[in-house]
Amino acid sequence: MDITKCVIPAAGLGTRFLPFTKIIPKEMLPLLNKPAIQYIIEEGMQSALENFILITGKGKNAISDHFDNSFELESILRERNKIDLIAKIDSINKNAAFSYVRQSEPLGLGHAILLARHGIGKEYFGIFLPDDIIMGKTPAMSQLIRIARQEKSSVIAVQEVPMDCVSSYGIINVKKQITPNLFQVSNMVEKPSQKDAPSNLAVIGRYVLSHKIFPALTELSPYAVGELQLTDAISHMIYNNEKVFAYKVQGTRYDIGTPIGWLKATIGLSLQDPHYGPHLRKYLKDLETIDSFIYDTTKNIEHSI
Ligand code: G1P
Repeated sequence: MDITKCVIPAAGLGTRFLPFTKIIPKEMLPLLNKPAIQYIIEEGMQSALENFILITGKGKNAISDHFDNSFELESILRERNKIDLIAKIDSINKNAAFSYVRQSEPLGLGHAILLARHGIGKEYFGIFLPDDIIMGKTPAMSQLIRIARQEKSSVIAVQEVPMDCVSSYGIINVKKQITPNLFQVSNMVEKPSQKDAPSNLAVIGRYVLSHKIFPALTELSPYAVGELQLTDAISHMIYNNEKVFAYKVQGTRYDIGTPIGWLKATIGLSLQDPHYGPHLRKYLKDLETIDSFIYDTTKNIEHSI
């Protein structure tokens, strides 16, 4: 089973990050020295994906610019003999193919995925939701690809969440538990109330899907009220006799769709970084013990007089 293509929906307005996102796409928020979307592309490349179809929209050009050649910057770095920095900026665009499809109306995740159908054809393909950054020994997408090949079926990444959080996620209904981490899915519910949730296994932003998702999305689209949900189309695909599995991926997941989630990701990734980790750990320790270190308006006014 060849899986070389993936779709990355990146058309959202990022209103939770305003005013930052007035001009800059939220996918370009930095996590250490890289924009968040670069972690997604790197996970894809480490999972042997080669074709990246990004669903973008108005105001998202910084994303395509970031993954393009920058001849001017490269030649300045070359003149200054900063060859290591050139490797940092051009390793991705030399090894991955990008295409961009614009979603001109906010019609939902399902609609965004449907826009990629011409680029996918009749293959299994990956989907990354770029608000979910997953770090671990084995890339989450490559864990899913392994299961998709083993089961010759679609597979979705899940994690257990507390029952009072189910209404923020797509939740799977388990048909059969195969191993401690692998489940066959009977259907899925998008953002159910606690009492309607069929489990606490929540979809996190990685999928490997059969191209059969496209007819399922097309069949559902006339009935969609407002947004066309990917979750509903996956249930519809199961109803049309496609097998779908859910796999508890190993790794740490950060939801960077909110400012607090982004802060946690920034701190979590920095603490694990061999260069920044020790500095940050020391800084956090100092913050706990030296309270004059913390910016305090009243104290600072006294000092500055
Ligand atoms: C989307 C999906 C949802 C999934 C979630 C994971 O929702 O629709 O099924 O559980 O991502 O992050 P969103 O958070 O974009 O509303």
